[in-house]
Amino acid sequence: TKRVAILISGRGSNMRSLCEAMKAADFPAEPILVLSNRPGAGGLEYAAAEGIAHAVVDHKEYATREAFDAALHEVLSAARPDIICLAGFMRILTPGFVDKWAGKMINIHPSLLPKYPGLHTHQRALDAGDAEAGCTVHYVVPEMDAGEIIGQASVPVLPGDTAETLEKRVLIEEHTLYPACLRKLC
Ligand code: GAR
Repeated sequence: TKRVAILISGRGSNMRSLCEAMKAADFPAEPILVLSNRPGAGGLEYAAAEGIAHAVVDHKEYATREAFDAALHEVLSAARPDIICLAGFMRILTPGFVDKWAGKMINIHPSLLPKYPGLHTHQRALDAGDAEAGCTVHYVVPEMDAGEIIGQASVPVLPGDTAETLEKRVLIEEHTLYPACLRKLC
């Protein structure tokens, strides 16, 4: 059974879908830590209610990215994860930190990478007139949203779509893609 740590910054719906999937008796992994960089992240309540160990490393308490990442590394190392899943974790990680977890850290991103790394992915897909949008699970490397792709899912862009309606359609796919990719990796 692989030990999985999940990093969040907010709502945590992807974290929830991972934890729910890991409840299956035949799933070869278990959630050992939910870690947020924001004290108020909604996902922390789910972790607490589920009895999953959870922690906050508040980026506002650190003067530099290096100091924040060192604190993050300390908390993560103590939990001894085999795999780290970034799930709506909205901090850029330093290359030094990323290298320490090379090959063990994955992320879900709301676009069909290599299209639209970074923010505002749905609006950018709409502005480009794309016929489809989607999400990608990939390994984390120092360059943002550029690591090897593990899996993708796509949805159609429909007439009248806004960034909000498209986001909802993609998020539904995220919730099955991420657990499927984690299972594959395990
Ligand atoms: C998800 O759509 C995820 O793909 C995206 O943030 C959302 C988090 O929602 N991630 C990124 O944009 C990463 N740069 P959640 O907290 O409900 O999982």
